[in-house]
Amino acid sequence: MGHFISLKYFSPAEIKELVALAGEIKKRPSGFSKSLKDKSIGLLFEKPSLRTKTAFYLGALQLGGQPLYYSSEEVKLGKREEIKDVARTFSCYLDAVVIRTFSQKVLAEFAQFSSKPVINGLSDFLHPSQVLADILTIQEVKGDITKLKVVYSGDTNNVCNSLIYIFAKLGGDLRIAVPRKYMPARSLVKEADEFCKKSCASIKIYNSLDKAVKGADVIYTDVWTSMGKEKERASRKKDFKKFQINDKILKLAKSNCIVMHCLPAHRGEEITDSVIEGKNAKVFSQAENRLYAAKAILLSMVAQKPKKGGKK
Ligand code: CP
Ligand code: NVA
Repeated sequence: MGHFISLKYFSPAEIKELVALAGEIKKRPSGFSKSLKDKSIGLLFEKPSLRTKTAFYLGALQLGGQPLYYSSEEVKLGKREEIKDVARTFSCYLDAVVIRTFSQKVLAEFAQFSSKPVINGLSDFLHPSQVLADILTIQEVKGDITKLKVVYSGDTNNVCNSLIYIFAKLGGDLRIAVPRKYMPARSLVKEADEFCKKSCASIKIYNSLDKAVKGADVIYTDVWTSMGKEKERASRKKDFKKFQINDKILKLAKSNCIVMHCLPAHRGEEITDSVIEGKNAKVFSQAENRLYAAKAILLSMVAQKPKKGGKK
């Protein structure tokens, strides 16, 4: 499977396998407790993290591996040392590295020079390990994702982009409700359209949440201001105010619809306190499933043979 930096490089069958493996690990964790014996997993995080760091760190440990955490301050990727030198040095010691960074280009460059798998722990553009866990959560609660109406409301950020890729690959009905000013990148939409032709997925963009959410089985949202965009928070609060998930919006969806959020949440912005604390919310099931998805990714990536790509 190579690196795990974008789901666009994975076939529908490979994505389904990863989700199924996550489900299997969840049911039978002890069966995998030695799967990463003698393997070392680096975690290099240039942004804060609660769930992703815990899921991959603990995931590696519970699989019998050795996690090592590096803060951005100590590595200073691309500043103290060139990305390609860090990648090749890590490849000498580690069996895989999970990276949380800003630009997707950093991940691509790192992967180009790493002979060991590089796993995207979130970039500005994508958050693939999150949506893998989300598909598991939706399946567990609602069943076949291709038979559901799934609505994402808010910013076309890393989580939204990854949802677009995963639904485009797996099929289903995904509706993105977003202000006109924040439409998804054209290149992403074009790529997704190609995947949709094969999967028969329907991905539609709406500029009205009221319209998008009618009859929804799943409502998903994420912060309007992602990490790194803090200076835009005031303007974003104005731009997105009609895209908040609140009790009024919830009434337009199916009564048994589930509400999802990758967390952390900005309560009172993209979601109200009453909705996130309400009976429809599944946010902590999502958080829990991050662990099993992380383990499935580690297992699939690290259990493979070394790749040719890494330059020494
Ligand atoms: N959902 C998620 O990735 O959370 P963290 O930023 O806390 O890792
Ligand atoms: N879109 C959010 C996701 C956090 C998990 C961010 O990038 O800050």
